[in-house]
Amino acid sequence: MDMSRRTVIAGAAAAGIAATALGSAAHATGGRKPVRTLFGTLADGTEVHRWSLENGGTRLKVLSYGGIVQSLEIPDRRGRYANVSAGFDDLADYVAKSPYFGALIGRYGNRIGKGRFTLDGTAYQLSVNDGENSLHGGAQGFDKRVWDVEPFTAGTDVGLRLSYTSADGEQGYPGTLKVKVTYTLTRHGDWRIDYAATTDKATVVNLTSHVYWNLAGEGSGSIEDHELTIAASRYTPTDAGLIPTGELAKVAGTPFDFRRAKPVGRDLRAAHPQLIAAQGFDHNWVLDKGVTARPEHAATLRDPASGRTLRIATNEPGLQFYSGNFLDGTLTGTSGRTYRQGDALCLETQHFPDSPNQPSFPSTVLRPGQTWRTTTIHSFGN
Ligand code: BGC
Repeated sequence: MDMSRRTVIAGAAAAGIAATALGSAAHATGGRKPVRTLFGTLADGTEVHRWSLENGGTRLKVLSYGGIVQSLEIPDRRGRYANVSAGFDDLADYVAKSPYFGALIGRYGNRIGKGRFTLDGTAYQLSVNDGENSLHGGAQGFDKRVWDVEPFTAGTDVGLRLSYTSADGEQGYPGTLKVKVTYTLTRHGDWRIDYAATTDKATVVNLTSHVYWNLAGEGSGSIEDHELTIAASRYTPTDAGLIPTGELAKVAGTPFDFRRAKPVGRDLRAAHPQLIAAQGFDHNWVLDKGVTARPEHAATLRDPASGRTLRIATNEPGLQFYSGNFLDGTLTGTSGRTYRQGDALCLETQHFPDSPNQPSFPSTVLRPGQTWRTTTIHSFGN
């Protein structure tokens, strides 16, 4: 973490300087309540709001629709801000054609094979929306729901508390699931996500966030020069439908080895059957740390040109690294430029895909009386 930037910002704010070199209105010392504006209106008349918050040099804009991170701005090593999260500037685009840009994902992040699983002897059929499989909670997942949003300031933190109650049977999942997600910006500019969920019937849960990162700025081109490190010696190979085969394969000697920082593009075109099937990286890495009581380091992403760096820590045992393979130049992003293949990448902290059908994977079962809790922390530097 580059402390010098934080010190500069804090110093500028303390001195009451209009910190133009740091961008407009550098409210970097916390305590300022998030601001709400109208972003758009859904077909049924529901208003969707956009919340703007800022702390420690990080600026976040979040929609009540899907809990979507519509913009996330961080400075480069010279203090120049860029929005590093792909998205749209129009609600209609999110509703009609978003590939989960910036969204909260549930009830089950990633895929469940054939959208089926059996729990306590009962078979469940989920909404199928990705070939024969269920992806990211089904056709109407949490990314397409309007969340209740409450702003807060607590000490030097600012944030939003998002909540959503998913009805018993929604998208085929059993149990009324009460979900609370807290987005916090710390005085260091970290973006922390705390997830909590309870149920009234046994069910499965896997919650994540689907930001598409480009640390050079969204719409600025390819992420192939970004250097990625993933603290994982194994990954979960998949079948043609991207469902894990159940094997935990070693990354050593394969394009999947990101144990040392490596440009994303270096092995992206290797003729490895797993890369061909997914048209790039779209796999779950088995984090060496496993499930942890506290968030521990999972991955680092760095754009050498701007110096912007993202570090991810999580309680989760897995990380989906998706290299933006299905971006095809048909979507126009926030900055008015189109997104082509590899123009952004996702790093989704998670339990492994298809866990409900893979008894050897860490369990995603949630029972009444339990609370599903998990945290992911994004720390930024330059
Ligand atoms: C999946 C990709 C999928 C994308 C949605 C990612 O989490 O791994 O396979 O295409 O989400 O666009």
